[in-house]
Amino acid sequence: MQSELRAPGWRRPIAAACGAAWCGSALAAQTPDTAAARINDPAAGWDRLWNTVILDITVIGVLFALVMAWFLYRYRAREPGRAGTARGLSTAAAIGWALIPTFVFLADDLYIAANGWKLWNDYRDVPAERIEVKLETGMYSYDYTYANGVRTQNELRVPAGKAVLLRMTSRDTLHSHFIPDFRVKEDSMPGRVTYLWFYPKAPGEHVVTCAEYCGVGHAYMAGKIIVLPAHEFDAWLDREATRIGRQAHPAAAGAES
Ligand code: CUA
Repeated sequence: MQSELRAPGWRRPIAAACGAAWCGSALAAQTPDTAAARINDPAAGWDRLWNTVILDITVIGVLFALVMAWFLYRYRAREPGRAGTARGLSTAAAIGWALIPTFVFLADDLYIAANGWKLWNDYRDVPAERIEVKLETGMYSYDYTYANGVRTQNELRVPAGKAVLLRMTSRDTLHSHFIPDFRVKEDSMPGRVTYLWFYPKAPGEHVVTCAEYCGVGHAYMAGKIIVLPAHEFDAWLDREATRIGRQAHPAAAGAES
């Protein structure tokens, strides 16, 4: 599963071949996996793509509106009760007027689609250096479980400077884990594990919200990401692990009988 996440598309056979070559070799552990260790965060790319879309549809929209306004004026009815006088077009000119604007739109659409596709491929290249947290969604909460068993609800604490991967599923219906600040959104659903990753660079707080209509409490299904300095995060996680360790063995810890 992890190697699948790290090696999408054409990289997969190469990764498999490399894996086979290194299999059983003690050197494998010492070889820095630089390609996988780099973090290619597509968040800024999504912003650029959004701006491109807005710019393109504005320019194209304004251009087409101006041409249309000119035609309305140029071929207006000159006398009351008379139709406007549009010049007849030759077959070639009529086809040209239909096809050229179509291909202008299409070329721009394909350009934007290709950029989106590239960003999506970047996003699928999940950084190898990461922490993983499991997420179960339900009406109406986000329930996180860390690798050491620590659990939180509607609040995900993560260290700054490390990529975070969520493996998500749902216990009832379709939900979505949307973190607008990190430009990531992915659905969670019963019987299936989906994933989402983001790269929190600096300490701070970020909103999490559900983006699939999941019932009457949908609008209130929200949480937050708390990004802590790495040492604070480690200390918190250790503290929580110790706490649930005591709760799991109340007799050994001398808790209330
Ligand atoms: Cu969960 Cu909407």
